[in-house]
Amino acid sequence: MTSNNRVAPHLFVVLGATGDLMRRKLLPALFHLAAQGLLKEASLILGAARKTDLGDVGFRAQAREALAAAGFSADDLAGHWCDECLFYQPIGLGEAEGYQALAARIAELEQAHHLPGNRVFYLALPPAALASTIVGLGEAGLNRSTGWSRLVVEKPFGRDLVSAQDLNRLLHRYFDESQIYRIDHYLGKETVQNLLVFRFANALFESVWNRDRVKRVQITVAEEVGTGGRAGYYDGVGVIRDMVQNHLTQLLMLAAMEVPTGFDAEAIRGEKVKVLRQIEPIRPEDVVLGQYTAGQIDHREVPGYRDEPGVAPGSTTETFAALRLQVENWRWQGVPFYLCTGKRLPRRLTQIEVAFRCPPVSVFRPFFRCEIDSNVLVITLQPDEGFDLCFEVKAPGEPFSLQTHRLHFRYSEAFGRLPDAYETLLLDLLTGDQTLFVHADEVEAAWRLYTPLLEHRPSVHPYAAGTWGPLAAEHFLGDMGGSWRVVTRAGKEADGR
Ligand code: BG6
Repeated sequence: MTSNNRVAPHLFVVLGATGDLMRRKLLPALFHLAAQGLLKEASLILGAARKTDLGDVGFRAQAREALAAAGFSADDLAGHWCDECLFYQPIGLGEAEGYQALAARIAELEQAHHLPGNRVFYLALPPAALASTIVGLGEAGLNRSTGWSRLVVEKPFGRDLVSAQDLNRLLHRYFDESQIYRIDHYLGKETVQNLLVFRFANALFESVWNRDRVKRVQITVAEEVGTGGRAGYYDGVGVIRDMVQNHLTQLLMLAAMEVPTGFDAEAIRGEKVKVLRQIEPIRPEDVVLGQYTAGQIDHREVPGYRDEPGVAPGSTTETFAALRLQVENWRWQGVPFYLCTGKRLPRRLTQIEVAFRCPPVSVFRPFFRCEIDSNVLVITLQPDEGFDLCFEVKAPGEPFSLQTHRLHFRYSEAFGRLPDAYETLLLDLLTGDQTLFVHADEVEAAWRLYTPLLEHRPSVHPYAAGTWGPLAAEHFLGDMGGSWRVVTRAGKEADGR
């Protein structure tokens, strides 16, 4: 999002540096930024973790492997970058001495490399380790420095309203909100950012983006994967906490927010949070939850959720959710916002669909029965990022009939490779742009909305892996056409059916 790409010399400290996030996301993104020349030479990475026997050399070897696994050839450039820029510091079991040793190593590296004291502390840690690490950093005085000092927190930001408030209080004990960068990687996706440009740089669409013209909005994040080997985490969390409270709600805020007064973090985040505060409490009849059973995806047998290693026997954790939300404001009153997400659905698909109202009088009756998919703007976030605008045309010849067709735009055709979400977010972090990071107010407003639902969870319906969710979800859109048709249609189109 940043327009100023100048990254000041800094030290990038990763806590939890031997973990999965570092290997799969952070290292490849940091290396790619460096390889593009976006990080200047004085940009060092200090990995910190509990492993005492790793050392700089062992850490660099791990990093080389991670870069190779991410598809970068372990050539001179990657190897040279690892040797020049990566360092490692063990922090023991998280006692005060560990953080003091970390502070001493930071000071030593900064002095040796003439760094001005700009620091990032990236918490790539499991939720249980967050509080003690924040305290450890704060008590060691690492919340302040001679330059800037920024703290990055990954989701989940708490597991309900009370725990999120506790976490925010703890963060604010040591760090100002302006130092805190809460990451929701969906905000780094190019198409998500483009939603703002699409809405606010094209008056054409903004003028119809309201209850007079829009009939419904549906936000779908369908995943083919199951728990992906993370059942231990997922089983205690479920899809509302894992996906809805954060990723889907972020998309909802961007789709529904008012025009901000400017293109800056304060204005944009301020408008986003207002949307959340205007959403009506969620009623039980506005939610369908599901859990996948054994089934087939891509002609492959996959086990049911309860048979995944690490899932508690008889678990009722939900892996699918469909919700209907109502934004009670001048712009959206009466327009339902549907959020739908699930694991082990037939294919990976993230879309925002804005369905427009039918013409008030149809002169083409009986040839044309205005349907939900007559005029729809489909914003595809992944895969195959782009936009489609569906509209009616006359099919050539006789008998007279109408057909829905699409105008389409694809990012890959226009621009080629898109940056990874983490690259975008890390660059913004390093240039101090908080627009794409989540404010404490947003986190709490989102938990305020979903916590009552988590406390009184409706029953969880089974659905076979490889289907578009439980049958109850099919009936959910009864008033809008009788089926869960947007997802189903997208799936069918993709499957060529
Ligand atoms: C993560 C969730 O935040 O997002 C995962 O914890 C989920 O369960 C993932 O699979 C989806 O991200 P993406 O970018 O692949 O859509």
